[in-house]
Amino acid sequence: MCGIVGSIGLKDPRNYVEKGLKILDYRGYDSAGIAYLSDGIKIYKDVGSVEHLFSFVPSHIETNVMIGHTRWATHGVPSINNTHPHLSFRKKICLVHNGVIENYKELKEFLVDKGYEFVGETDSEIASNLLEYFYLKDYDVISAIRKVMSLLKGSFAITFFTSDDENVLYALKKSSPLVIGLGEGYNLIASDASPMISLTNNFIELEDNEYTVISNDSVEVYDQEGEKVNKEKIHKDIETISHDLKGYPHYMLKEIEEIPSVVNNLINEYFKNDEYQFDPHLIKDLNESDHIIFIACGTSYHSGLVGGRFFEYYGKSASRFIASEWAFHPTYPGERPFIIMISQSGETADLIHCLKIIKEHNLKNLIITNTGGSTLDRNAMYSLLLHAGIEVSVASTKAYVAQVTLLSLLSSALQNDKKTIKDLKDSIEIVKDIRDNYKPIIMNVADELKDKTNIFYLGRSYDYFLSLEASLKLKEVSYIHSEAIPGGELKHGPIALIEPGTPVIVFITDTVTASSMRGNIEEVKARGATVYTIATQKLSRKEDTIIVKDYAYYLSSVAVSIVAFYLAYYVSISKGLNVDKPRNLAKSVTVE
Ligand code: F6R
Repeated sequence: MCGIVGSIGLKDPRNYVEKGLKILDYRGYDSAGIAYLSDGIKIYKDVGSVEHLFSFVPSHIETNVMIGHTRWATHGVPSINNTHPHLSFRKKICLVHNGVIENYKELKEFLVDKGYEFVGETDSEIASNLLEYFYLKDYDVISAIRKVMSLLKGSFAITFFTSDDENVLYALKKSSPLVIGLGEGYNLIASDASPMISLTNNFIELEDNEYTVISNDSVEVYDQEGEKVNKEKIHKDIETISHDLKGYPHYMLKEIEEIPSVVNNLINEYFKNDEYQFDPHLIKDLNESDHIIFIACGTSYHSGLVGGRFFEYYGKSASRFIASEWAFHPTYPGERPFIIMISQSGETADLIHCLKIIKEHNLKNLIITNTGGSTLDRNAMYSLLLHAGIEVSVASTKAYVAQVTLLSLLSSALQNDKKTIKDLKDSIEIVKDIRDNYKPIIMNVADELKDKTNIFYLGRSYDYFLSLEASLKLKEVSYIHSEAIPGGELKHGPIALIEPGTPVIVFITDTVTASSMRGNIEEVKARGATVYTIATQKLSRKEDTIIVKDYAYYLSSVAVSIVAFYLAYYVSISKGLNVDKPRNLAKSVTVE
């Protein structure tokens, strides 16, 4: 959500900013813009793609300073006036912003009182004008920055230059990431390191409530009181997004089909020479804790639901929270709680908020993430990487399976239970079998579902957790309303929605709950529902839609989630939608 790139002293800033904005594409955006200083401030904006923006940006630009931005609308519709960079009222400050300024309304009133006029509806425009207002008092940028930092509430990563000086780029940060890239005779800035790695491997990371003054040859960082901060230089080799579809028509399909190798890689990474390979301190801390708390968002939350059950199986008490809920009412049951955060991107703002609280309370914590070097990876006490390879498609598939796999390995390591390894390897075979033999059936189902408006998923226990994920995936990429319902809850309300022709997709893979699920099928059929059942061999009936070989039932989310992913994918494709970039969504949710 919103991406920032900037450079100073760079020979070809246009190229860097264009490529950088494209690399930040994963954050999602609806409009983009750039600005530079060359005989006055020049700004180019477009509601649409970075590619289109650069089709009318001059091909050769002489400038010492340039900033660029991709905007994911929060305050105000996608429009040219709301697109960044924002030029202040008196044309002194040109700024890009990521984050949400919570008190922007009162700050706007303050500025309107001082005669300021606004062209758009964004909170960011307030920041540019506020900086200008204080800057114009005595032409002191630094005191303007410090004043503005003390006034802004919410989250901000701001980068700006003034019309008066092409030799300085400024930035300030709170709760939204900003990384500075160090070059020879030039310096860079961006929302994360990825846009800069073709130009440098040396970075400085801004912490909350710090601001920076960057010139061609120097980077100085200060805290809000104006004290200089000695920053550590970080050397990072970062995996770049591969834009190679390897012959697949879409990333989502490619990533679904990578699932067998993702699970296999994880086993090889965390189980070698017949031993689990986790940090012994982590295992000790987990074993000594008396309560495990899982916190995550979206798909990652769904893997936390499964993970909680794994840890319960090994005798731990566990609770699960959605990050944006926990952050505002944090609870930590037990005397020695241990927090497990899960995040594919490692940049999810809701979870970063939680980590702050976790740290304030000195709680032991672990992040499970796919993104080495991300904010959560760097700041959590322990970090375990998913090694799933970059996930490009907005809808998470292989990362979900990797999260569940890693949680099963980690929980098993607590009691050195090695049977899990065999169960996981068997699950890989199920996934391959579905991939090789069931796509035509799934495509047929997709065809029957594509024009429906409501679809229900039913399951119990592990199959319910899987249903939640299946439902989220379907709604994300097909825009069809869908709900996941625990089988037992059907009669407590949702059955009122079942009418002739309503599609109900049922997972039956758990011996303990299979007969209750068969009862649920009868109940919805009696109301005219069209039922599609995915069952394991030993629990199957001949009328079931998909019958898969038996596997350890607790690994449903590893073994058969692929059915749900294919289904969502094929429904989206048959509706002609942009499956890799569904509307309104971003790969990395960097605002709360
Ligand atoms: C759904 C999806 C989202 C993410 C959620 C959390 O396909 O991808 O629901 O799971 O935004 O993101 P991460 O895992 O990056 O914290």
